[in-house]
Amino acid sequence: MPYNKIHVEPITGTIGAEISGVDLQNLSAETIAEIRSAFLEHVVIFFRDQPLDIPQLKTFTSHFGSFGIEPYVKTMTEHPEVIAVVKEADEVNTINFGGHWHSDWSFQEAPPMATILHSQDIPPYGGDTVFANMYLAYETLSDGMKAIIDPLIAIHSARRPYGTGKSILGNSKRKSMTILHSEDAHAEMEHPVVRIHPETGRKALFVNPVYTTRLKGMSETDSREILDKLFHHSVREIFTCRFRWRVNSLAMWDNRAAMHLALNDYDGFRRALNRTTVAGDRPFGSAMRGQQEHVA
Ligand code: SIN
Repeated sequence: MPYNKIHVEPITGTIGAEISGVDLQNLSAETIAEIRSAFLEHVVIFFRDQPLDIPQLKTFTSHFGSFGIEPYVKTMTEHPEVIAVVKEADEVNTINFGGHWHSDWSFQEAPPMATILHSQDIPPYGGDTVFANMYLAYETLSDGMKAIIDPLIAIHSARRPYGTGKSILGNSKRKSMTILHSEDAHAEMEHPVVRIHPETGRKALFVNPVYTTRLKGMSETDSREILDKLFHHSVREIFTCRFRWRVNSLAMWDNRAAMHLALNDYDGFRRALNRTTVAGDRPFGSAMRGQQEHVA
């Protein structure tokens, strides 16, 4: 699509674009509309050289909707909408936050539509974030596989990272971030395996290895087999892009059509970013036809 207010440069042929010619502290309605179009078109968009303090990051976020709800991680005291994603230089051999493929808070009834991450301290190398295009993950499946998964419902839960058992995040007494483990994290939420994007109308795979625990109505073994196949397929290199952070970079991804993970290859250096989410709606898919009237 033509952009008049911003310059949009794709960084791969399948996902991700860098946007320039814009100051995120001063945005007209027309520029915001173009940013939203680029976000929908490229799934994840990146900006460079955007010094934003916390109120400015919140103002930028609010151009796209209301704030999402941030559970299980202690947010900034003065700013409950913001999580400081930090790993300190001396936190070596620890599991980093966001270090497994996931889409944010997919266990919520209405997971965030977007996540926004703004960088403060970046290691001299490493700590890149990788994104996968879940539209393409779906569209490139065989017709047979699509027919199998189109009607399926997946169960999502926060229990693996945030439950009271052994956590995939390792020791919760990390220095830099406070994880709030809870019985609540064991609750289960049903979402369609294939969701229809409410803005683009495209179908996207909506399962992820962190929060999707099983498929409804299937044995553990069948469920595992199908999910593992989907997870493996979703992160084929051709569907991904990798973002090298610099200080004052900002990434904004469509959480309805992307998975992401943060690489943990920078022991000995500090990495710090501020994160907000934009509230989304309840995922709807072909598995839920007939329930459409109940979906916002
Ligand atoms: C996240 O999963 O939201 C964090 C990603 C990152 O730190 O790059």
